[in-house]
Amino acid sequence: MVENKTEPGPDAKIQNEQVRSMEDVLKEYLPEESSFQETVLKAMNYSVLSGGKRIRPQMMEQAYRLFGGSGKEIEPFLAAIEMIHSYSLVHDDLPAMDNDTLRRGRPTTWTVYGEAMGILAGDGLLTYAFETCTKAFAMTEHPDRVGNAIRILAQKAGISGMVGGQTVDVELTGKPVSEEQLDFIYRLKTSALLEASLMIGAVLAGAEEEQVDRMEKVASDIGLAFQIQDDILDVTSTEEELGKPIGSDERNQKTTYVSLHGLSAAKAEVKRLSERAIKTLETLPGDSTFFRTFIRKLESRSH
Ligand code: IPE
Ligand code: IPE
Ligand code: MG
Ligand code: MG
Ligand code: MG
Repeated sequence: MVENKTEPGPDAKIQNEQVRSMEDVLKEYLPEESSFQETVLKAMNYSVLSGGKRIRPQMMEQAYRLFGGSGKEIEPFLAAIEMIHSYSLVHDDLPAMDNDTLRRGRPTTWTVYGEAMGILAGDGLLTYAFETCTKAFAMTEHPDRVGNAIRILAQKAGISGMVGGQTVDVELTGKPVSEEQLDFIYRLKTSALLEASLMIGAVLAGAEEEQVDRMEKVASDIGLAFQIQDDILDVTSTEEELGKPIGSDERNQKTTYVSLHGLSAAKAEVKRLSERAIKTLETLPGDSTFFRTFIRKLESRSH
C-alpha cells in the first residue's frame, strides 16, 4: 500500500524514499547466506526480501521521530519487527495453518523450500530478530530504553500477543465465533505487532509512560481496522492485486468481521476505528500529519 496506485500525490516520492531506505536497513541486518545451514538462511531472506508493504517498521520509525528520536538504535528494531512479522506470515501460510501457496506475489516459503524449512525459517527469523535487537545496546546512551523495547517486542509477539491470537484463530476455525472472541483474535494476532511498533518507537525516543500507553491504543485501533480491511480484500480483491490468494478465509472456514456483519458494516467499522485512532493521536504532542495520511491510506488500501 502506502504508495497510491491511481493517484501518486505529492508525498509519493517521500514514501518511496522511505520504503527504499527501509529495504537497505533490512538488508544490512539480515544474515549472510553462507555455511552448512545456508538453506535456512536463504529461506529466511526469501521471506523477508519479497516486497512487503513494511508498514510496521515505517510506523515504528515515525513514532520514534514523533517523540524527537534521532539516533541509530532504532534501526535494529526496524529490522527485527519486520523479521517477526515475516516469520508470522511464513508460519501462517503453512499447510497446518492457512495452507496458502502465494504470498507477496510469490510462492510461499514452504512451497519453495519445503515444509520443514518453512518451520525452521520462521524459527530462525524469530530468534534472529531478538539477537538483532541486542545490537542496539552498543548504539545508545539509554540501555534501559533498549531493554524495555525488547520486553515489549517479546510480549507483543508471543503468547499475550500474536502467537496467542493465532492460537485462538486456529482453534475456532470452523466453529461459531462470538463478537468478543473475534475482537480478541484480531487484537492479538494483528494489532499486537502494530502496538509493538508504535510503543517501541516511542520508548526508544524517551516518551513518557502515559504517552506510550496512548500510542498502544492508537495502534490497537489501526490493527483492528487493518485486519478488517484484510478480510474485506480477501473477498473483494484479486490475486494479482493482493499478491496472495483470495477466498482463503472461506476455504479455511474462518469467521471474519465480513462473514459476521457483511461487507458494508465492515467498511463502516474500518472508517470508525481509523477516525478513533486519529482522534487519539491528536491528543499527543508533535506533528501527527504523517500518521493521519498513513491511516487514511491504510483505510482505502487495495493490497
Ligand atoms: C498481512 O500483513 C497479515 C495481516 C496481519 C493481515 P501485511 O498486509 O502488512 O503484509 P505484507 O508485509 O505487506 O506482505
Ligand atoms: C493474520 O491473519 C495473520 C498473522 C497474524 C500472521 P490472516 O491469515 O488473515 O493473514 P493473511 O491474509 O494470510 O495475510
Ligand atoms: Mg491466518
Ligand atoms: Mg493467512
Ligand atoms: Mg487474511
